[in-house]
Amino acid sequence: MRLLAPSILSADFSKLGSSVKAIDEAGADWVHIDVMDGAFVPNISFGMPVIKAIRPVTEKFFDVHLMINEPVRYLKDFVDAGADGITIHVEACADVAETLKAIKKLGVKTAISLNPETPVTAIKEYLDLVDMVLVMSVHPGFGGQKFIVDSLEKVSTIKSWIDEKNLDVKIEIDGGINLENLPSVLEAGTDIIVAGSSVYRGDVEKNVNDFKNVLGVF
Ligand code: DX5
Ligand code: ZN
Repeated sequence: MRLLAPSILSADFSKLGSSVKAIDEAGADWVHIDVMDGAFVPNISFGMPVIKAIRPVTEKFFDVHLMINEPVRYLKDFVDAGADGITIHVEACADVAETLKAIKKLGVKTAISLNPETPVTAIKEYLDLVDMVLVMSVHPGFGGQKFIVDSLEKVSTIKSWIDEKNLDVKIEIDGGINLENLPSVLEAGTDIIVAGSSVYRGDVEKNVNDFKNVLGVF
């Protein structure tokens, strides 16, 4: 089953609780939570206290995307705040394997991400250690950017490695997804769709439904 994970980075932060409730009630599958440190990416979003504050609002899976340097320092804090899955960046860790093992040890889903300029081969050796690979289809740091089409080839390559090795690893895509490019993204083999601006701009309930209708066809 293909899943929709709206990114709350595009939500109205002055009423974050109701913005999370809105996607939950509209039928979104996961809540995608973008954490940025102003060092790994040129922007700062929010951290553990905000995640903790919205945790009681929904029982949906909290998909925490850490765009921070050396995330190993804060893994337990994010799990304590309510993360159900943690994604780290291959570019952000001195010891990627140790960081992934530390996430697994905390009992949550483990995922690795790579930036658009990072070759797909950079994550190959870690496939055995993860539940999911997140392919960045924009340069991380900001919502509302244009989808980078080359990302589709990355998805297909990763999918072929997963199939070859017969692994149970999901592929998530993040950045610039809209109803127009959604079919091609799903055709490439993506399992989980992150969407920020295209869910939160306008009528949230209608947007979630429109996305879910396309996902249901695949
Ligand atoms: C970018 C974030 C994305 C972003 C997606 O650094 O990781 O999750 O919020 O937003 P859209 O869908 O607007 O590109
Ligand atoms: Zn993200």
